[in-house]
Amino acid sequence: MVSGPVASCFLKLVWYMNNALGRPQKKKIVSRIKGYHGITVAAGSLTGLPNNHRSFDLPIAGIVHTGCPHYYRFGAAGESEEQFATRCAEELEALIIKEGGADQVAAMICEPVMGAGGVIVPPKGYYEKIQAVCRKYDMLFVADEVICGFGRTGNVWGCQTMGIKPDILTCAKALSASFLPISAVMINDKVYQALMMESDKIGTWGHGFTYSGHPVAAAVALEAQKIYDEIDLFGHAKRMTPIFQKHIQSFADHPLIGEAMSVGMVGALEVVADKKTKAAFEIGAVGAAGTKVANNAQALGLFVRNMGDRVAVCPPLIINEAELADLFGRLRQSLDAAMAELKSEGHFKG
Ligand SMILES: Cc1ncc(COP(=O)(O)O)c(C=O)c1O
Repeated sequence: MVSGPVASCFLKLVWYMNNALGRPQKKKIVSRIKGYHGITVAAGSLTGLPNNHRSFDLPIAGIVHTGCPHYYRFGAAGESEEQFATRCAEELEALIIKEGGADQVAAMICEPVMGAGGVIVPPKGYYEKIQAVCRKYDMLFVADEVICGFGRTGNVWGCQTMGIKPDILTCAKALSASFLPISAVMINDKVYQALMMESDKIGTWGHGFTYSGHPVAAAVALEAQKIYDEIDLFGHAKRMTPIFQKHIQSFADHPLIGEAMSVGMVGALEVVADKKTKAAFEIGAVGAAGTKVANNAQALGLFVRNMGDRVAVCPPLIINEAELADLFGRLRQSLDAAMAELKSEGHFKG
């Protein structure tokens, strides 16, 4: 199966588990605004991006969204990162209580580092605080490692980097180096025992796909993992991380960049019209300034993805120091070219 369905799959596991445990009311799932988990009916509902909901009649009932832990955008004036993290946890708790508390809310799903929402690394202390809330309400914690897994954040799992102890973990993409579509859901023993209990009662495990455990995809995934070990890919990524971060941080002074953020080998630059006020460019479509940067990059042979005005950089983990210098050199040229266009169009004085 491909990655989105793993998010739908985990939802069914959580429902099944709570039926097994005699808690048929405990079914609601908390996700986050700007989270991305795919686009099927269930995964698209977990996703917290308006364009994945609008006109698709999503989200479905029982899936609710708590705030996005992006300090730069959502931190209040004068609020420290720590205070912001505390507020995020308080908002989560208020939402859980509103949705029926421990009796009705079953789980929370998070990408350790938010990807498609714009590469957002939550502030220090955030996960500690929100996991404590989830524990308080006897909720499962689900980590969507579809992007973060397999070395991207400097450790094998994003959970290790961010201090998360998940009950359920979903992964895909780098599971097979993306050469063939395959994904996986991992569960801890607590979840496993409950699922088995219910299946024993029913007499079967009524869940599966035509292509579940497809031998060709599984063989490719196993080979990819073997190669990762042979070339010490995760070790290499860890060694490249400080260089990557230095490059990303070197953009913090650029006149167009409001925030330069990264963890491991994934980062983003947020293009703003005014560094002081953090105001975005208002030049037609949302994210038009970010698109200018991405288009200029493409003209220079560099593929970056802009999510609105956040320009994401997520190179293959085999990239070396010289290639990183090349990548970021082209990115700087792209930013400068976008800035020249914005100036000539009268949108930016700089
Ligand atoms: C974190 C995360 N979860 C789930 C998905 C969904 O994957 P798919 O597009 O294969 O359904 C993605 C896709 O990019 C993702 O980034």
